[in-house]
Amino acid sequence: MEEPSPSDSRTSRRHFLDIILGASLLGWITSVAYPIVRYLKPLPQTGPTGPTHLTRDESGKLEQNKFVIVPVSGQRVIVLQSQDQLYAFGAKCTHEGCTITYLPGQSVMWCPCHDGRFDMNGRVLSGPPPQPLTKYIAKKQPDGTIVISEQHA
Ligand code: FES
Repeated sequence: MEEPSPSDSRTSRRHFLDIILGASLLGWITSVAYPIVRYLKPLPQTGPTGPTHLTRDESGKLEQNKFVIVPVSGQRVIVLQSQDQLYAFGAKCTHEGCTITYLPGQSVMWCPCHDGRFDMNGRVLSGPPPQPLTKYIAKKQPDGTIVISEQHA
């Protein structure tokens, strides 16, 4: 029986190291490329679509804080109550996408990231936001539940 020569052993070790290095390189490329691809082409929004009924808990928060942020068709929506009127807007600031909040004492929606301010129609009052907020429809049903739906043009 013939013994393996030292050069055969070196070749097999080199082949093994090539495989390990190749796998490591592939893993590194994947870990760098995947977040870039997901940033450029995000996954589709999931969750229920169509009108959203506020839960009892959300209605309670709206009553207490005069606003609540709820998911509607995969988007954050801020629902406001001012002088018995209901309003609903996309809660994503049109500047860089921070979540806006409501300042009931001033009747303005405020983005804390760069001090953007919106009036009760979603129009920009001050700050860097380039566009008004997206409007949604907020309606109180005869049974007292509140329904939020997208506004179609
Ligand atoms: S992200 Fe809202 S003002 Fe900049």
